[in-house]
Amino acid sequence: MAREFSTVGVVGLGTMGAGIVEVFARNGIDVVAVEISAPALERGRATLKGSTDRAVAKGKLAEADRDALHERVHFAVGLDALHSVDLVIEAVPEHLDLKQRIFAELDRVCRPETILATNTSSLSVTEISVATSRPNQVIGIHFFNPAPVMKLVEVVRTVVTAPEVVADVEALCARLGKVDVTINDRAGFIANALLFGYLNHAVAMFESHYATREDIDAAMKLGCGLPMGPLALMDLIGLDTAYEILDTMYRRGGRDRRHAPVPLLKQMVTAGLLGRKSGRGFYTYERPGSPVVVPDEATPLATDGALADGARAIAKVGVVGSGTMAIGIIEVFAKAGYEVVSVTRGMEKSAKVCEAVKTSLNKGVVRGKLAEADRDAALGRISWSATLDHLADVDLVVEAVVEELSVKKALFASLDEICKPGVVLATTTSSLPVIDVAMATQRPADVVGLHFFNPAPVMPLVEVVRTIRTSPEATATARAVCAALGKTGVVCGDRSGFIVNALLFPYLNDAVKMLEASYSTADDIDHAMKLGCGYPMGPFELLDVVGLDVSLAIQRELYLELREPGFAPAPLLEHLVTAGYLGRKTRRGFRDHSHR
Ligand SMILES: NC(=O)c1ccc[n+]([C@@H]2O[C@H](COP(=O)([O-])OP(=O)(O)OC[C@H]3O[C@@H](n4cnc5c(N)ncnc54)[C@H](O)[C@@H]3O)[C@@H](O)[C@H]2O)c1
Repeated sequence: MAREFSTVGVVGLGTMGAGIVEVFARNGIDVVAVEISAPALERGRATLKGSTDRAVAKGKLAEADRDALHERVHFAVGLDALHSVDLVIEAVPEHLDLKQRIFAELDRVCRPETILATNTSSLSVTEISVATSRPNQVIGIHFFNPAPVMKLVEVVRTVVTAPEVVADVEALCARLGKVDVTINDRAGFIANALLFGYLNHAVAMFESHYATREDIDAAMKLGCGLPMGPLALMDLIGLDTAYEILDTMYRRGGRDRRHAPVPLLKQMVTAGLLGRKSGRGFYTYERPGSPVVVPDEATPLATDGALADGARAIAKVGVVGSGTMAIGIIEVFAKAGYEVVSVTRGMEKSAKVCEAVKTSLNKGVVRGKLAEADRDAALGRISWSATLDHLADVDLVVEAVVEELSVKKALFASLDEICKPGVVLATTTSSLPVIDVAMATQRPADVVGLHFFNPAPVMPLVEVVRTIRTSPEATATARAVCAALGKTGVVCGDRSGFIVNALLFPYLNDAVKMLEASYSTADDIDHAMKLGCGYPMGPFELLDVVGLDVSLAIQRELYLELREPGFAPAPLLEHLVTAGYLGRKTRRGFRDHSHR
């Protein structure tokens, strides 16, 4: 017989606790909500009220249900109020000594059969449990932020947690409408172990002025479809909490340097910049606790029109190459009203590229996304050539030839001879240093990277890579062109992986290492990232789509350039590639796709 949970206690009503109270009360369970002081209690009450009022305003909760929800919550200062609850969830700050003290006290206050749970993100549940006389009834119930929204709960069992306690808590999660994954007690569990290295790396990029906060966040949202960028997510988590989680993961998780909190984080916490909860973190918010970002001194000025910041006027664009990217890029420019000169290595290739562009534009017409007249106008703007000489009068060249440095360098040397002065020369390389191709010309100040994503007509992001020789005008021109294409251009330095791949692939590689260590299954890891963090695909789904060979090559590049031991490719990834399991394209990768 499953245990009945009619009343639960929640200790600490901060970012997580207030949301956890809401989850229980929404599902018909009485809650005793406890804080350390009367003002903190009032803050928690106000958070709950704000959240449920917003749900009513959005039509997601009936007024009567909200009122009933509030009636189920009893607020109190001090742990004594928890004497007769069936389960307690602790959500106080991420400090082991504090949590141990609270658990020792809960052990005294609560009935002997009460289950004691912690919402810790990174501390050892086992160490917390031994502060009580009932470690077999102690468990981790790790909710995700915001608790009422995110579907995932990580249930953490220690070596002593009783199996019936695990089963009862799993049944409770189901009653709350949550999906649970049950795992052993390891720093960061599934989701945070995969998330925090990425978040810390994004902070390091920001700290080193590699890219702006807006550009880092836009890159991950638009390049990977994430619900929010890493710095906005840090603000939501709370920088003090994030600092503690990183610090604990560093110490417990094998001293992986990627978890050593970036120094800027400590400085921000000390300065009281805690994120949304204090009204200021990486961004500035309307007021403490508000999700509304307001402009501050770091907000980029809105540029009206394409010619801001010394950007040069671009009317005619050359696209060199005949592969997938070149074809997509030709279409993008032509649709946006640019005159386009497509250059390939022979008329036969040109005919193929022309066919491919036509086919893609026709698809747009069939789907009702493009008028026939606009298709014809776009095609009318493109001229097809097999000689670079036709680029003599273009204003911008986008190179999208094979990913080989010698080929690209030779091409840029030719462009340097042919193109008029002042032209912006762009490479679409995704892995080669842009400075290498820039130095093949006599005009490195005019060379940028324009890293489009595949498929170019669909993906809204372009990474604009500036080298140490790129002029501000060339960067501004590239950014203005992206805007004119209807895309977001994010500016970053010339380092392996730029923003998106540098942040994405180590995370994917970490997921492979987690699977390899048998900590969890591919399904549960995918679930955790989708339901806990709102990712559109889990890491193994994404790896199978991207291709394991491509992923391994990118990861190797990152490792070689940055020499970060944590970036070493996972042996399992290498073995799968060696075995020819490359993902969907070979019908087998992490999963078997032969029947789909
Ligand atoms: N922030 C997140 O995104 C997130 C997500 C999942 C889990 N967690 C975990 O949840 C826990 C809480 O984190 P948070 O971000 O909500 O922290 P927080 O700082 O926002 O809130 C902590 C609350 O605990 C209260 N508190 C402190 N000492 C107390 C005591 N002795 N008795 C009762 N209340 C006390 C504080 O007044 C505060 O309101 C941490 O273990 C954290 O790792 C956080």
